[in-house]
Amino acid sequence: MAVQDRKSPSWWRQAVVYQIYPRSFADANGDGIGDLKGITSRVPYLSDLGVDVVWLSPFYPSALADGGYDVDDYRDVDPKIGTLADFDEMVATFHEANINVFVDIVPNHSSNLHEWFQAALAAQPGSPERDRYIFRRGIGEDHSQPPSDWKASFGGSTWEPVGDGWFYFHLFAVEQPDWNWENEEVRQDFLTTLRFWSHRGVDGFRVDVAMALAKGFGSDFPEELPNRAEMEAVPIGPDHMLYDRDMIDDIYAGWRGVFNEYDPPRVAVAELWAEPSPRKARYATDKSLGQAFYFDIMHAGFNATKVRKVVEDVLGWAAESGSASTWVLSNHDNVRHATRFGLPDVVSDDVWANFDRDRKWLLSGGVDPVEDVATGLRRARALTTFLMALPGSMYLYQGEELGLREVAEIPPEDRQDPIFFHDGDNNVGRDGCRVPLPWTADGPSFGFGTGSAHLPQPGWFADYAVSVEAAESSSTLNLYRKALKLRSQLQGAEELEWADAPESVLHIVRPGGWHAVINFTKEPQQIEVGEVVLNSDPSWVPDETTDGRGGLSTIPPETTIWFL
Ligand code: GLC
Repeated sequence: MAVQDRKSPSWWRQAVVYQIYPRSFADANGDGIGDLKGITSRVPYLSDLGVDVVWLSPFYPSALADGGYDVDDYRDVDPKIGTLADFDEMVATFHEANINVFVDIVPNHSSNLHEWFQAALAAQPGSPERDRYIFRRGIGEDHSQPPSDWKASFGGSTWEPVGDGWFYFHLFAVEQPDWNWENEEVRQDFLTTLRFWSHRGVDGFRVDVAMALAKGFGSDFPEELPNRAEMEAVPIGPDHMLYDRDMIDDIYAGWRGVFNEYDPPRVAVAELWAEPSPRKARYATDKSLGQAFYFDIMHAGFNATKVRKVVEDVLGWAAESGSASTWVLSNHDNVRHATRFGLPDVVSDDVWANFDRDRKWLLSGGVDPVEDVATGLRRARALTTFLMALPGSMYLYQGEELGLREVAEIPPEDRQDPIFFHDGDNNVGRDGCRVPLPWTADGPSFGFGTGSAHLPQPGWFADYAVSVEAAESSSTLNLYRKALKLRSQLQGAEELEWADAPESVLHIVRPGGWHAVINFTKEPQQIEVGEVVLNSDPSWVPDETTDGRGGLSTIPPETTIWFL
C-alpha cells in the first residue's frame, strides 16, 4: 500500500482520495436519493478499486438549494439520506477496510434555514444575531437599493433585502448567506464542528471555497462600497475585498490547533479557485489547512507543454509549502474529463477558455461541437494514468473510474443546480456530472437503487455499468484497479526526474526506476522502454523486439505506459 501506516502523521501525502457525491452514489432505501447505507454497502467496491480515502460531499440536513452546499445544521445527517448512527457505521466499515474518511466543511456560508440565520432575520439591525452574518444597510433615501452592484457567483445580486432597509450578503445562491468570520461565535462554532466530526472518527476535511472567508466587511471596509468593476479590478490577494485576504491565515491557524489535538493530526484540503496559484501554497502549510487543490491541471487540456508546466509549478508550490501536491481532473463542479477531452481544445491565453467551451457545449444539449467519445476516453485514460504516477495525492471523482461521460441531455424540468435557475440562459449548470452511478446494465436505475434516480440516467449508462466493466479486462474500471494497485506498490519518495523524450511526449522517472511516458501526439512514438507494467491503450501489445523485457518500442497515439 502507498499508505503504509494510517496512524503516521504523513499518511495522507500520497493517498488516493475518491470523492463521493452522496446523493448520487448508491441508494439503499429505494427513494431515488443516494444514502449513507448505500455508501456502506459499496465499501467492498471501493476497497477493490484500491482507494485510500473517501471524501464525502455534504450529507448534512439541507433543502438542497445547492446540492447540500447549503447547510442547515453542520453537526447532523440529512434525514433524507441517513442518521448519525448510519454515519458511524459507515466510518467504521471504511476503517475496517483500511480506507480513511474526509468530510466536506462549508464555512463560507450556511443555508438560509440555519437556526442562526433564522435568528438573524428575526432580530434587529445591529444585534448580535445579525453580526454572525454580513448585513449592510441599503443605499438611497429609503435604503431600498442594494449596497453595491456586485454579482453573485450563481447570477443575480450578492445582496438580498430583508424588508427593513437592510440587506444580507451572499456570494452564491440567495439561500446561502455568508458568515461573518470576524464574529468570534462563528469562529468558535466551526471549531466545535471540526471537533464533532473528528471525535466521530473522521480523518480529514475538504474545505469549501476556502479562500473567501476573510472578507473584513466589519472593520476595514469603506462606508460606500466600490462598484463591481472597481472591486474586480483588484487582484485576488491581500487587497481584494472578498478573496484571499490575509485574515484567512489566522482563521486556519485556529483550525490547525484543533487538527493537532488528534493523533494522527487531522488533515484538510482547501478548495481554491484563484488563478494563478502561487499564493495557494499558504493554505497548504502545516500552520494552515495542510493541502490545497491546484486546479491548474484542469485548465491544461491535453497538451504536453501545458501539462509539463503545470506539473512543474504544482510540485514547486507544494514543496514551498512543505506539503504534497494534489492532482485532480474531475469533481462535482465540472464537466467530466472523458467528455472535456472529446471536445476540441480551444487555444487561448485565457485559462478559462476551455471551461467556456464546456459551458456552451452543455447549453447546446451536448451537440455543438460534437463530442468525439473515443478520443475523449483515450485521452482521459492516458492523462489520468500519467497523473497517477506523479508524486503527491490523487483525487478521483465517482464514476471517472468507469470512464463516464457528462450527461448533457437532462430536460429542464429535471435540473436541480441553482446555476440553472439563476442563469439558465447562459449556463445549464452542473447536474450532468452528478447523475447517479450505473452499477448494473439494467434495473430501474441501473442498480443505483430499486426506484428511479433523482436525476435521469441516459440509456447509454448501461455500457458503463460497474457489472459490465468488471467483467471486461480492457475496461476503464480494470485499468484504474490495476493502476492503483501498482501505484501503491511503486510509490516511493516524492521525487521526480524528467527524462529526454520526443516532442509532445513526457517521460518521468520516479525513485526505484518507475517510468511513466505519455504520448500526447496523434502519431505513434518510438522510445526505449523496460518491462512494461501498465498501458492505457487496451489494444496495444509492446513490439515483439522488446519481448516484454525492454528495448525500442512504439507507443501508440494518446497513450500512457508505465515501465520498470
Ligand atoms: C464549491 C462547491 C460547489 C458549491 C460552491 C458553493 O465551489 O464545490 O459545489 O456550489 O462551493 O458552496
